Amino acid sequence: MTDISSRNPDWWRQAVIYQVYPRSFADADGDGLGDLKGITGRLTHLSALGVDALWLSPFYPSELADGGYDVADYRDVDSRLGTLDDFDAMVAEAHRLGLKVIVDIVPNHTSHQHPWFQEALRAGPGSPARDRYVFRPGRGAHGELPPTDWQSVFGGSAWRRVADGDWYLHLFAPEQPDLDWGDEEVRADFRRTLRFWSDRGVDGFRIDVAHALAKDLTEPLRDIGDLGATGEESLHRVPPGSHPYWDRDEVHEIYRDWRKIFDAYTPPRTAVAEAWVPGARRALYARADELGQAFNFEYLEARWDADALRRLITDELATARTTGASATWVLSNHDVIRHASRLVLPPGTDLDAWLLSGGRAPAVDEAAGVRRARAATLLMLALPGSSYLYQGEELGLPEAADLPEAVLQDPVWEQTGHTRKGRDGCRVPLPWTVSGPSYGFGPGAAWLPQPASFAGYAVEAQAGTAGSTLELYRAALRLRRKLLEGETLTWAPDAPPGILDFARAEGWRCVVNLSDDPVRLPPGEVLLGSGPLAENGTVLPPDTTAWLGS
Ligand code: GLC
Repeated sequence: MTDISSRNPDWWRQAVIYQVYPRSFADADGDGLGDLKGITGRLTHLSALGVDALWLSPFYPSELADGGYDVADYRDVDSRLGTLDDFDAMVAEAHRLGLKVIVDIVPNHTSHQHPWFQEALRAGPGSPARDRYVFRPGRGAHGELPPTDWQSVFGGSAWRRVADGDWYLHLFAPEQPDLDWGDEEVRADFRRTLRFWSDRGVDGFRIDVAHALAKDLTEPLRDIGDLGATGEESLHRVPPGSHPYWDRDEVHEIYRDWRKIFDAYTPPRTAVAEAWVPGARRALYARADELGQAFNFEYLEARWDADALRRLITDELATARTTGASATWVLSNHDVIRHASRLVLPPGTDLDAWLLSGGRAPAVDEAAGVRRARAATLLMLALPGSSYLYQGEELGLPEAADLPEAVLQDPVWEQTGHTRKGRDGCRVPLPWTVSGPSYGFGPGAAWLPQPASFAGYAVEAQAGTAGSTLELYRAALRLRRKLLEGETLTWAPDAPPGILDFARAEGWRCVVNLSDDPVRLPPGEVLLGSGPLAENGTVLPPDTTAWLGS
């Protein structure tokens, strides 16, 4: 059994980490937004679930132009979510329950409300205050054109003009000006932020858009138009490391510097990179002298297909071995369509069009979605390495695809001229109880409306109910703790087409049926199934995973 106790410096290598999206988890004060006291009050849900840690998306002061990823002060708590004392109380309670705490660091950009940006606006063109950001004069006879053709990930130009004529760079929303990481003061301030939270007892960090910090700002700035793609797509059109702003080699100096800070604590603080870059390049962020882990988004984006998944799993484990990282799996987060809906959309579905159709074209069979999601989760939890869960997936929540346009908050909606609905459908507040104004999320209505179907998914409806998704997660996490040993797996040489079949140490075996037909299970005691098995537990139906013992 692997030691995940608090003193083990390697606790993170095979940890299961639960992502809390603070505004949508639990609302203690009744203003409709989730808050820190709400989280503290519900931490026993996480200890009963059996996860090792929670990761909190940003809870810092923010005008919520991008759900809190627009940070106005990196070393404080948004007053609507609580205070630093509430934060300390939450960490203390988490630690008392044996849960580690990971916080989100957003180093690529600040909020436009951050004092630095406000100072830069006042100080004017050419001022040192503007050097912390990326300000440039425009092109054209009167500077009326943006300095380059760089595109925002959320749609439209990545440049916005200010009153005095200068333009500033924002790879995301205009309310999120990009920092210039060539500026020593910027670097020093983030070191301070990492120490600030580490000193408060935080156990690790999730690094937002880790692949964007280093930019080629040598003059003249280069257009990317000739790459034939814009936004993050353009990254795939250039030799590795040579894009003007994604995934540049210099970015790694920053993380090597941070590693020294992490290692100054006992146990060392952990980190995980959010870097949407291809596998071999992603591995660089996870090197032992950098962040240690990087989410495997290729796995999240993979089709429900045995060959594709086998290849991805094999590659990820091989890559992790070369860097000393641990493999890092994820199926859902606050930026993507929940996997209970996504995995049953026909391959090649245009996800933006699906959301625009309110989730009706194509229609999704919700029960089939939950069945497949449960199978996918049991597969993920059997893999060597660390798994990240997203709040609500333990309930089998589907995407709330039919949110009315009037309630949408994601900046993507406005910035794309209403052609992409964005990510609100996975951010709808959690249902805790089967009734009540917001199904137990809080005493009043929630900031985003919950579909009526959420009542049936509520924690109250599932806790203690045999066969529920929540009880499946609890059972899986309990077993996993007992069975974990080593970080390798062995594929069965004779698995039929459409079947994934592998063994971990200690005789723990995982078999997944991704084909359309039932298959006979190999011999062994069935420890857990993601759904009912057939013929007295000897046959594995389609879209089902079983864990076997020896
Ligand atoms: C990351 C976050 C996402 C946010 C973006 C800009 O991708 O996960 O929610 O919008 O960064 O900060």
